[in-house]
Formats: sequence, structure tokens, C-alpha cells
Amino acid sequence: MSTQTLTRLEKVPVSPELLYRLLFGRPMTQLLYAAWDLGLFQLLSKAPLTLAEICERLALPRHSTDMLLNTCVALGLLKKEDGSYANTPLSENYLVAENTFYLGGLLEHFRRHVFPAWDSFKEAIQQDRPQIVGDAGKSDIFEATRRPDVDTELFIAAMHNLSVSDGLILAEGFDFSPFTRLLDIGGGSGALSLAVAERHPRIQAVVFDRPQVCSIAERYIQAAGLGSRVSTRPGDAFSDALPERADVVVLSLFIHAFGLKRSTPILEKCLCALPPGGCVLIYEPMLYPGRTGPLTTLLSSLNMLLVTPSGGDVTAQDYMQWLEKLGFESVFYKALPSIRHLVGGFKPKA
Ligand SMILES: C[S@@+](CC[C@H](N)C(=O)[O-])C[C@H]1O[C@@H](n2cnc3c(N)ncnc32)[C@H](O)[C@@H]1O
Repeated sequence: MSTQTLTRLEKVPVSPELLYRLLFGRPMTQLLYAAWDLGLFQLLSKAPLTLAEICERLALPRHSTDMLLNTCVALGLLKKEDGSYANTPLSENYLVAENTFYLGGLLEHFRRHVFPAWDSFKEAIQQDRPQIVGDAGKSDIFEATRRPDVDTELFIAAMHNLSVSDGLILAEGFDFSPFTRLLDIGGGSGALSLAVAERHPRIQAVVFDRPQVCSIAERYIQAAGLGSRVSTRPGDAFSDALPERADVVVLSLFIHAFGLKRSTPILEKCLCALPPGGCVLIYEPMLYPGRTGPLTTLLSSLNMLLVTPSGGDVTAQDYMQWLEKLGFESVFYKALPSIRHLVGGFKPKA
């Protein structure tokens, strides 16, 4: 490393603040996990507490806990009023286990499966291939979930966490009323199907996924009490025929894991299987036209680089042109209040 000498006083050219924030990205993540692991958000869900009360209940020392709590406030994870600490709506909804929108599975999945892959991020860029630990870039996350050290149950719980709120947004954001039979390809836990079926009483849904995932989805479906209207069909979307009779098909967090080229035969099968006027919905994170945002989508796209050989996010325009080229008509784009947006198209009537 070269020695930095200050030869004469100069004006600071630009604030280094952003670099400091980037350097503290990992400490912020560590702080989130520490507070969550220690049970802080769970504890404060019941009622606001003072520093002394928190220390007593969690058996923590005063000095370090004071620092942790105040930093949580600065980050928006807690609020501080009259000397007491309380959860914010963010921590209450997403970090407390009993709540519908709890993201505990996602946090655990990132810790177990995602962060270890990010340790080899530079290699992923240099080699342009996945870095799933112990896998030597050979397969994707779905192949890897066949290994005993990769926990499919946890992976599906994480996807379910993501899709509880995004399912509600989809169910509200598209007019499903002309349709009665939904096919959810790579449907995971069934979260999207469950949300759509809950909101639209005429919908019967089929979650089409790998056999090991279908048996997990069955439990989510039973827990939601929608077993009479949402079912599973085990299979491989690449090599098996699609379940028959759907008039609307949804693909979500699926194409971004495989890429447009690999997914083309599946979309061709959809076009074949749908009745005239049937609809395909792509519900995926989408990049801005210039591909330099949104930042969360770009980072999630890099996640795909780390765990899949051909995945990554594209723009809404890319999806629209793809659907048109495949023969869908009245192709549309709808921005939704989520990281995922909607592109859809209809099978021609004549
Ligand atoms: C990222 S998850 C998304 C789950 C769900 N669509 C959602 O939005 O919550 C991708 C899903 O695709 C499924 N999948 C992967 N390869 C598949 C294949 N060849 N056939 C069917 N499903 C597959 C995985 O098992 C997983 O459940």
C-alpha cells in the first residue's frame, strides 16, 4: 500500500459519506441479525420498555445495549419516546414472529445460503457463474436444494415470506374476474395462488412445482384453509406437460432465476395450453429502461448471478418484446407497489 502524504492543504473534492455508508453495510446487517437473534423486536412487540427493563429481560449489559438500541433508532428499526424504546411499524410487522408479514425465514435463508455465496462475489464476476458453496459453479439453487446441507424447507419459507405481501399486491393489481383457473408455475409455497384465491372466490388454482416443494406447499395450503380451491401438481416445468385447463398462468420469481432464453420453451407450452383469450402473467422484479435501477432489483439480480447459471432481471420492455415475439397479443405492463411488476399477454382469439 502506498504512503499517503499531505503536501498542501486542499479543499475536500467530494464528501466520502457514501463510501462510509457502503463500508458500514455489513455492520448494519450484523446489527439487524444481533437485535433479531437477541429477541429485541419480539420483546418490544408487547410494550415499550426502558433501557434498564430491556437489559433485565434480555440479560444484557447496559453500556453495549444502550449503543445497540440507539443505533436501531437511527436505522428506523426502533423509536425512542420519553426514555422508552418501541418497535416501529417496520420492525413490528416484519421482525415479530406472530405477524403475517414476518420475514424470519428470509433472514435465516440469507444467513444460511445467500451470504456465503456473496463471499465469492468477485469470483462470480470474474467467472460469470454461480458460487453456491460446495458446488463449484455446476448447478443452480434448485439443484442445490437437493443437497442435505441446503434446506429446501427454509428456502420455501423465505420465498413464502417474500410472497405474502406481493401476493396481496398481485391479487389487487390485476383483474382476475374473467378467469377461473389459475396455474402457478414454480409456485413454491403457493403464496401467490393463496392470495389470489382468497381475494377472488371464482378462482381455482394449481401450484405446479418440483415434488419436494409440492409436499411443503400442501402444508401452507392446508394452514390457509384453502384446500378445496388450491391444489398442487408435482412436475418439472421444463420436461413435463403443463397441467391442463388453466385460463390464466402466473410465473413469478421463476423467469428471473432461469433467464428468458431458458424459459422460452415453457412460455411456448403456456401459449399452447391456454384457451384463446387466456392470459400469461409475468410477475418479476424489473429494471428501469437504462438498467441502472432500481438498486434493490439490481442487487437481487446479482443474487441470481450468485446462485443460478442464467438468471438475472431484465426490463419490462424486454419481457413485453419477448411475449410479443412468442405470439401473445395485447401485451401490457403494469407497475405495482412492489419490487415485482407485471407484464402480461393474451393468447390470440382467432
Ligand atoms: C424463487 S421460487 C418462487 C416461488 C413462487 N413463484 C413465489 O413467487 O413465491 C422459484 C420456484 O421455482 C421452482 N422450480 C425450480 N425449477 C423448477 C422446475 N424445473 N419445475 C417446476 N418448478 C421449478 C422452485 O422449486 C421454486 O419453488
